[in-house]
Amino acid sequence: MKKTLLFILAIGFNVSLSAQKNKQVVVSVNTPGASIQSDMWGIFFEDINFAADGGLYAELVKNRSFEFDAPLMGWKETSLNSGKGRYLVYNSESGNNPQYINIVSDVPEGKYGLLNEGFRGMGVKSGNKYNFSILARNNEKSPASIYIELRSAEGKVIGQTQITGIEGEWKKYTASFECTATDLKANLAILIQGKANIDLDMISLFPNDTWKNRPNGMRSDLVQLLADMKPGFIRFPGGCIVEGKVLENRYQWKTTVSGLTDRKTIINRWNTEFSHRSTPDYFQSFGLGFFEYFQLAEDIGAAPLPIINCGMACQYNSSELVPLKLIDPYVQDALDLIEFANAPVNSKWGALRAEMGHPAPFNLKMIGVGNEQWGPQYFERYQIFVKAIKEKYPDIKIISGAGPSPDNDMFHFAWGELRKLNAELVDEHYYRNPEWFLKNANRYDNYDRKGPKVFAGEYASHVKGTANNWEAALSEAAFMTGLERNADVVVLASYAPLFAHVDAWQWKPDLIWFNNLISYGSPSYYVQKMFATNNGEFVIPALSENKPLAGQDSLYISASISKTTSSIILKIANVSSKATSLDFSLEGAKAIQKNATLQLMEAVDLTKENSLESPKNLAPSEKTIAIAGKKFTFDALPRSFSVLRIQYK
Ligand code: AHR
Repeated sequence: MKKTLLFILAIGFNVSLSAQKNKQVVVSVNTPGASIQSDMWGIFFEDINFAADGGLYAELVKNRSFEFDAPLMGWKETSLNSGKGRYLVYNSESGNNPQYINIVSDVPEGKYGLLNEGFRGMGVKSGNKYNFSILARNNEKSPASIYIELRSAEGKVIGQTQITGIEGEWKKYTASFECTATDLKANLAILIQGKANIDLDMISLFPNDTWKNRPNGMRSDLVQLLADMKPGFIRFPGGCIVEGKVLENRYQWKTTVSGLTDRKTIINRWNTEFSHRSTPDYFQSFGLGFFEYFQLAEDIGAAPLPIINCGMACQYNSSELVPLKLIDPYVQDALDLIEFANAPVNSKWGALRAEMGHPAPFNLKMIGVGNEQWGPQYFERYQIFVKAIKEKYPDIKIISGAGPSPDNDMFHFAWGELRKLNAELVDEHYYRNPEWFLKNANRYDNYDRKGPKVFAGEYASHVKGTANNWEAALSEAAFMTGLERNADVVVLASYAPLFAHVDAWQWKPDLIWFNNLISYGSPSYYVQKMFATNNGEFVIPALSENKPLAGQDSLYISASISKTTSSIILKIANVSSKATSLDFSLEGAKAIQKNATLQLMEAVDLTKENSLESPKNLAPSEKTIAIAGKKFTFDALPRSFSVLRIQYK
């Protein structure tokens, strides 16, 4: 008898002891708090790291129109059958594409011309179709033709075609061919056959399998990675690229639309930004321009969010400003952009949108004025933009900058000004180490609920000496639970930068890495995807000892519900090297389904990364798990990020 009692006591003692050890988390299912915007988790595209030309934009020919500062960059002479000749670059000094090349081929039986090296080579695939096009003019009466040869890195011919009957006036010629071998660094020869004198421009080669098979299209694998994230919005085109190092090379959307020959190639500001990563061949052809950005947004179901120059060049570089009395064209550009995106086809810019193939509006709802601007000069200019935009388009939401830092004097000055001006959305940027991200998981808990809302427009956790490892991604996941918990303050968020070419990057970490053929998402990519594809509609409290979990015992938790899918969504980051058992109590739920879905990323080794060779070394797994009921225990694995979806009534 005594023995049995002792045994029962002992069991009871063990249970309560283990219950005490577990962290108790009370989730109040019937207390919906802030509503979470359906487009809260977005992406930020900037033409940095070869993100546009050489990346997303599927054009394979670099400097196709001879408009780089060094007009022959990317090209060199080539010949076949003892061909000989000469070339000259002419500048017609008119329009946005003034330069072209003249090639004279001297040997009747030979072939003479130029070889294009592509963007660190051309990535081509066996069995794929390639579409070649060129503008050409024959300067002589005798017939002229061009032979086109795709060569592997070793010089083997892996595709060819030709164009005959070049006429005496400028004309576009096209030809397609199939590629017979896969090569990461192929190149393209354009050869004049026999004796001839020809002018050439806009020499272009695209794979046929672009996203949606569009001509002038984008790389399908890269767009697919974006589409898979189901981003709520896409911020574009930058970043500092909007500002330009000087105003002269700021991003001007009007020179990026219309026909390709109307678009004005300029140097990319990241070309010379970092001496340790200098990229002399980095230019912007704007083949991927504002029309294509809007179209991309529509394709992947993301709200477009363009950022426009506010009359200020990069304050880190030149600090060049447009005087207030000369600011009108900048403001007009913003107004015209809204017209381009939204106005009927009988308006000037709506007509251009229709002519480019999209008569329906792009449904633009927000616009950013300036990027990382600071100081009183910004606010003088910002107010002029706000007044003009709101007068004409009162429903467009305006995003304002708060400088490059999340906590220095200029940041606080900016917030002071923006509060006075009743700003709608303030763009905060933080590139900080993992410790900062963990410490700041409660950053927004005490933000003013009545003030301007926050757009976490650029952030990434930077681990010294490396790019995108699990330590960075896990700290971002922890931090993002704080963003979600404060969805009444932080209404939009996007990681930065988005893309990086493994051979031509200037800035890391980045969300997605690629070479000329393949691509992969970093661990941070999967964290972003887990948030965006598991977005709830309302925040609900998830409290331990009456407090949100924002770092206690290395735990970070946010909870939300989706009424549409009747699910409770728990996001749990455990940054400790030890597993932790959590006793959840789902209060207020009438009934729950005992099969829950668990998406999990975990690795004890914080240095774990993905790579081209091992693209899913660290990626979420998904499985169904059984939970006991409204009260259940969940084991948060060491260094893990879990998303648990539970169906409820
Ligand atoms: O994302 C890279 C750069 O970081 C952006 O261009 C700029 O806004 C920030 O400083």
